[in-house]
Amino acid sequence: MTDTVLIFDTTLRDGEQSPGCSMNLEEKLKVADQLENLGVDIIEAGFAIASEGDFEAVSEVARQCKKATVASLARAASADIERAAAAVKHAVRPRIHTFIATSPLHMRVKLNKTPEEVLEAINASVSLARNLVPDVEWSAEDATRSDPDFLARAIEVAIKAGARTINLPDTVGYATPETYGRMFREMRERVPNSDLVVFSTHCHNDLGLAVANTLAAVTAGARQVESTINGIGERAGNAAVEEIAMALKVRHDVMPYRTNVVSTEITRASRMISGITGFQVQPNKAIVGANAFAHESGIHQDGMIKDASTYEIMTPESVGLTASNLVMGKHSGRAAFRQKLEELGYKLGDNEFQDAFHRFKALADAKKHVYDEDIIALVDDEVLRG
Ligand code: KIV
Ligand code: ZN
Repeated sequence: MTDTVLIFDTTLRDGEQSPGCSMNLEEKLKVADQLENLGVDIIEAGFAIASEGDFEAVSEVARQCKKATVASLARAASADIERAAAAVKHAVRPRIHTFIATSPLHMRVKLNKTPEEVLEAINASVSLARNLVPDVEWSAEDATRSDPDFLARAIEVAIKAGARTINLPDTVGYATPETYGRMFREMRERVPNSDLVVFSTHCHNDLGLAVANTLAAVTAGARQVESTINGIGERAGNAAVEEIAMALKVRHDVMPYRTNVVSTEITRASRMISGITGFQVQPNKAIVGANAFAHESGIHQDGMIKDASTYEIMTPESVGLTASNLVMGKHSGRAAFRQKLEELGYKLGDNEFQDAFHRFKALADAKKHVYDEDIIALVDDEVLRG
């Protein structure tokens, strides 16, 4: 089995579905361009039948992308699948991604179908999609709350009808790493011809486990992961692509898989998405939060000055930042203050330095953020007074 994990980015589809995250055509084309720079393998550009705007966006992304596969989502209905096929037809590598729910709750309440009717719908929808494009992905919506025997039958039908990728979403973010990994192992073991298809993860973050679940599934044999930039998506969001890519890179020792992600493009992609959607990234978010490479405590700053690997497990440069940020505040020590003064072009004698440091500490106690300008004012005052 290959050690490459394909990245299926759904920022433009599941990500865009989160309230307040909608993007116009121009913005979607800009994002698609950055997703190609980032090296994602598949871009889910939208849900072609959802609206004229979605159809146009999928078509234009399909025309623009030269490297990535471009997919459109479609329910298990002919009209959806034909619309999706029309939207992706200009892609260098078109894909139709069709889905239907397989959990008892969804089949009964939402679809009003018996399990046998759902199996028929899977066969009909995947077969139709396969007549229109060679690359078809099938998803079992709410897979993690489905009966394993029925799920195995559904996957078997989808593979027989021609699906190349089988996606088992944790639609409501209900799984844990153990249960999600076990589901992949079980389905890969028991479904005939499962070795002919790529298994895919799609995790929502309702319990904050989306990335952990994704990685558990990769360890259990999934070789495609569905994710979004900054983890945007329905409710608590989707698994964040930057976290998955960096976890696989940094912990290659225990997860020996690779992706095609160009990690130095991560920060640019993250900032683009928050700029376009207006969704701020929480400061302490892994990899792309403003504090992800910031250090304020004196002990940490001292360690960082001696050797950055004391408190950083990856370099800021590896995710496209220029440097770590030693934040000057009440927890900062002399070593960091001295380094900051040097960066700002000051060389103070011992006494001046001690005075400036005491005044800096007093200021930091009174003020939440001490900016470079505050330090410049403080030192200039010190030099004038001295
Ligand atoms: O969360 C989900 O189940 C989905 C499917 C449509 C793939 O987004
Ligand atoms: Zn989803």
